[in-house]
Amino acid sequence: MIISASTDYREAAKRRIPPFLFHYADGGAYAEHTLRRNVEDLAGIALRQRVLKDMSSLSLEAELFGEKLAMPIALAPVGLAGMYARRGEVQAARAAASKGVPFTLSTVSVCPIDEVASSIDRPIWFQLYVLKDRGFMKHVLERAKAAGVKTLIFTVDMPVPGARYRDAHSGMSGKRGPMKRVLQAALHPLWAWDVGIHGRPHDLGNVSDYRGKPTKLEDYIAWLGDNFDPSISWKDLDWIREQWDGPMIIKGILDAEDARDAVRFGADGIVVSNHGGRQLDGVLSTARALPAIADAVQGDLAILADSGVRSGLDVVRMIAMGADTVLIGRAFIYALATAGEAGVAHLLDLFEKEMRVAMTLTGARSIADLGSGSLVPDSIRGA
Ligand SMILES: Cc1cc2nc3c(=O)[nH]c(=O)nc-3n(C[C@H](O)[C@H](O)[C@H](O)COP(=O)(O)O)c2cc1C
Repeated sequence: MIISASTDYREAAKRRIPPFLFHYADGGAYAEHTLRRNVEDLAGIALRQRVLKDMSSLSLEAELFGEKLAMPIALAPVGLAGMYARRGEVQAARAAASKGVPFTLSTVSVCPIDEVASSIDRPIWFQLYVLKDRGFMKHVLERAKAAGVKTLIFTVDMPVPGARYRDAHSGMSGKRGPMKRVLQAALHPLWAWDVGIHGRPHDLGNVSDYRGKPTKLEDYIAWLGDNFDPSISWKDLDWIREQWDGPMIIKGILDAEDARDAVRFGADGIVVSNHGGRQLDGVLSTARALPAIADAVQGDLAILADSGVRSGLDVVRMIAMGADTVLIGRAFIYALATAGEAGVAHLLDLFEKEMRVAMTLTGARSIADLGSGSLVPDSIRGA
C-alpha cells in the first residue's frame, strides 16, 4: 500500500538491510508514542484547497543564510548513515547536491568530513553534539572549517541518550549483539557484499580521525556513550560561538521559551525537533509544537523543523506552520538503504512533485506565499 513517498522505500529497505540497521533507523524511544504522533499529527493537518487562480508559474526556490536551495529541504544529520549504503554519506550528499539542497553530515558519520565534502561541489552542513571531550569538538570544528563547511547545526537534545528498546532486541546493542549482527548480515548477502565488505572502513570517520587508531564500531559507540554531557547549558554554547563564525543553528528546540532563549543567545536558527521521537517519548510532536514556537520567534531567526516528514505534502504543511526549511531524516535513509544515491535523488524528485501539486492546489505561487492561510484553521492543534 502506497501512503507516501517514503513508505515504499521503507518496505524495500526492510527487505534489503539487516534488521539491526533497519530498526536502528525505524525505531524511537521507549514505547514510540512520539514517533507515531510526529507522523500522524503532521498528516492530520488539513491543507486548504483553492482553485482557479492561474497557477501556471510556480517557484519552490528558497534561500537560507545566503545559500540558494532548489526547494526548502535539507537532509537531516543521521548517525551511521554510511552503514545503509556503500560509503552512504557520500552517496546521499551527491544526491542532495544534484537536486540543489544541502546535506548535513552527522558528528557520528561513517565517512569523515573530508571524504564527504570533497565528493560534491556544494558546501555540506555539519552537525555537532556537545561532548565531554572538548578537544574532540575543537578538532572536528577545525576539520569542518577546512573542508569548507559554513553552516553548523548544533544538537542540544541529547544530553543523555534516549532508551531505544528495539535496538536491544534487534542486535544493535546488547551482549548478543555481535553474534546477531553477523547472522543477520549472512542472511542479507546483497548488503553484506556491497556495504559489509566493500563499504569499509566501518568506523566513525570523524572520531577515528581524532583518536588516530581505528578500532571496532562498538568501541566508538562506547566512547560516544561515555562522552554525552548532561551538564550542558547555554554557556557551553558561548564557547562554540567563539570557535565558529558561520551560521549556527540549534537543533532540538520544542518549547517557545527555549526558542526565545535561542534568540537571546544570538543563534542564527533553530531546528524545531524531537529528534524524530528518538529521545524523550511522550513529548509533543513537532506538528503540535511548531505553531507556538513560530508565533514566539518568527522573524528573529531562521526556523527549521523536522520529525515525521514523509512526503512533499508534509514539507508544505511545516512551511505553512512557520518553518523556513524542513529537514528530512528517515525518509531519505529508507531510500538510501534501498537504492543508494539514485534512491535519494528519486525521493527528492517525488517530494518536489508533491510540493508542486500541493502549492498549485493551495494557491501558493512561491514558498513565501505558504502560511497559515494555506491550512484549515481547525486542523492545526498547536500546543
Ligand atoms: C538513524 C538516525 C540517526 C540519527 N542521528 C542523528 C545525529 O547523529 N545527529 C542529530 O542531530 N540527529 C540525528 N538524528 C535525528 C535526525 O537528524 C532528525 O531529527 C530526525 O530523523 C527527524 O525525524 P524523521 O526521521 O521522522 O524525519 C538521527 C535520526 C535517525 C533516524
